[in-house]
Amino acid sequence: MTTTTTTISQHEFDGDGDSETSISISIIENMKEEYGLFVWPCSLILAEYIWQQRSRFRNSSILELGAGTSLPGLVAAKIGANVTLTDDATKPEVLDNMRSVCELNKLNCNVTGLTWGVWDAPIFEMRPNIILGADVLYDSSAFDDLFATVSFLLQSSPDSVFITTYHNRSGHHLIEFLMVKWGLKCIKLLDGFSFLPSHKASLLGGNIQLVEIVLSSKTHQL
Ligand SMILES: C[S@@+](CC[C@H](N)C(=O)[O-])C[C@H]1O[C@@H](n2cnc3c(N)ncnc32)[C@H](O)[C@@H]1O
Repeated sequence: MTTTTTTISQHEFDGDGDSETSISISIIENMKEEYGLFVWPCSLILAEYIWQQRSRFRNSSILELGAGTSLPGLVAAKIGANVTLTDDATKPEVLDNMRSVCELNKLNCNVTGLTWGVWDAPIFEMRPNIILGADVLYDSSAFDDLFATVSFLLQSSPDSVFITTYHNRSGHHLIEFLMVKWGLKCIKLLDGFSFLPSHKASLLGGNIQLVEIVLSSKTHQL
């Protein structure tokens, strides 16, 4: 007997005024397969952050790294951003699922393979002003490759910012060290639960942080 492990989860984001409408995103998940076929808690938190600051993200050019099921990027697309979703170029099943999820939500995002630390042609054309990454800091052996890619993208578009959510399992000393190494600095650090509505927070656990990172040479206004 074969059992299907594919499900569709619904993610709601509530409008807060008469003129606002709520949005809903459907995600195709596969619990038994890849990391990139599951909606991780970091992605729920990053998606909520984007939704709550939608006027900032609307009309921006967004690139999501390690997007997997892509909830943050899809919320950004739904509110009017121009979005490119990327994941490991060697994982066609993850990239195919990203295309299916865009189709399911009737959203027109670009989907492309982008492996961290690999300089394939598409990365040289990318000029996002916001780079997103939910739960992309989970395997320390990949941190350098990820920061190399982030640093390259920030230099290609010097006014851009990298916004990431991650599980803070052992303090972020390694992340701080790598930011210095790659010429980056943190301009905002938030507890991911500090802005999450209580009905969403009650379903999640752990210590998840959200950081905004820019080139250390950049002067910024908070
Ligand atoms: C823990 S999952 C997070 C997925 C999604 N962002 C979320 O939060 O639901 C990590 C993602 O990073 C991707 N990934 C891992 N190593 C990668 C690499 N070297 N280059 C690009 N993507 C990678 C995986 O395929 C996966 O989609």
